[in-house]
Amino acid sequence: MEFLQLSKEHLATVMDLEQKLFPEDAWSSTSMASELAANHTYYLGIFAPELIGYAGLSTAAGSFSSDIQTIGIASEQRGKGLGRELMQRLIAKARELGSEQIMLEVRADNAVAIALYKDLGFEQIDVRKRYYQPAGVDALIMRLPIRQPIVLGIESTCDETGVGIVQGNRLLANALHSSMDEHSKYGGVVPEVAARAHLEAIRPTLEKALTEAKLTMNDIDAIAVANGPGLAGALMVGIGAAKGLALAHNKPLYAVNHLVGHVGADVLERGAVELPTIALLVSGGHTSLLLVRHLLNDVELLGETIDDAAGEAFDKVARVLGLPYPGGPQIDKLAADGTASIRFPRGLTLPKDMEKHRYDFSFSGLKTAVARYVEKAQDAGEAFSKADVAASFREAVVDVLLTKAINACKDFNVNRLLLGGGVVANARLREEAQKRCSENGIELRIPRFQLCTDNGAMIAALGSQLVMAGRSPSSLGFGSESTLEVTQVQTL
Ligand code: KG4
Ligand code: ZN
Repeated sequence: MEFLQLSKEHLATVMDLEQKLFPEDAWSSTSMASELAANHTYYLGIFAPELIGYAGLSTAAGSFSSDIQTIGIASEQRGKGLGRELMQRLIAKARELGSEQIMLEVRADNAVAIALYKDLGFEQIDVRKRYYQPAGVDALIMRLPIRQPIVLGIESTCDETGVGIVQGNRLLANALHSSMDEHSKYGGVVPEVAARAHLEAIRPTLEKALTEAKLTMNDIDAIAVANGPGLAGALMVGIGAAKGLALAHNKPLYAVNHLVGHVGADVLERGAVELPTIALLVSGGHTSLLLVRHLLNDVELLGETIDDAAGEAFDKVARVLGLPYPGGPQIDKLAADGTASIRFPRGLTLPKDMEKHRYDFSFSGLKTAVARYVEKAQDAGEAFSKADVAASFREAVVDVLLTKAINACKDFNVNRLLLGGGVVANARLREEAQKRCSENGIELRIPRFQLCTDNGAMIAALGSQLVMAGRSPSSLGFGSESTLEVTQVQTL
């Protein structure tokens, strides 16, 4: 006997059994086909070897509730506990998806089913009179509450000390302390300064998060911490704090990947990351293009920057233009008053580069081209428009980022694009991403800005996905991994 997830290929077999089981009110083949094919449903069949039972679960995007859509066991197979087994598997699935309750309707005259549901923890919460026609039988509405784990997440990979708390897929707190101001006089993040700042900020940020969530450490079920990629010294502070808390309060600890955390942040918006998706992560520290087929099991790095990160390029060009750090927002503001009239180079987009570096980025040539342009004008004593330079530079970055991201969507036949990282604040990037995605029939996802920049909530959210999926905690032996591969979602 085998339990298999059903898809639309099973339509004919499922309809055969459906018609046998519900001769009066079987679903139409069309409704069954769309149920089996839908993204938000999970149908499970029992094969022995022919189909002898099935059940379906539906979880709408962004909802914290699942519904049992149907369940049926061939009459000669009843009384063997197969219905219970199917229900238990659907409950496990709903738990894994972050649902906080499961609802179902059952005929009031189906005593066997009602007894099973009660045994599984469902409670009757309502009655729908004469719901089942033509017999005029009442429907009982039953509900199973699911308590999702509360996970505390710690982020310290770069210059943001973040502590977030989530329950299942629900955001409870997102406390943040940034040391950006301390780096401004150096024009970029100084690792030693960042590490010291984390040390000072970690405790108050933890307390702020707990206060915000109205919880104490006793209420926390698990702790997650980003153990890379990032600055070694900065990472060590977060990891040390996480290990200390885990030991002192006897909580399981999960070491998770910061980059995958950026993708995981989207569960806090939608209940689940809709997959597969291409993800473009652009910040002061990274420029990575990912293909995510499964958040926990299948994340592939398609390409990344071979020199400067996109945000770093903004910061460096800002310096050339005499603007303060961080340069991204400054350039964005200045560019609004300019036109993108100067054609700056688009790194790694020439045909010969595209062969080897189709999804990789390079911004150092662009930065140099901007610097040359400015020097040349200054040396010649010619006036030039800073706003036009800013707009043209911004255009070049946005063009390359989106060309490569959209290429990836097309090449892998994935019609979703998720953006993350601080550069996502860029007005032109958002506008152009929207335009190119709609032209290409791609769904664009941009989580709210506080979840795009580095934060603890995204680390907690990824940790929570691991807990909900029943993964084992990490051992306390892990350390900071500056260059952690994106394929390693959890370090055990
Ligand atoms: O994700 P994030 O807050 O932190 C780390 O990189 O650690 O990203 C910060 C980066 C900085 O390089 C900043 O210049 C850039 O994001 N940034 C922007 C904008 N706002 C922030 N870049 C372009 N346009 C913006 N509006
Ligand atoms: Zn980041």
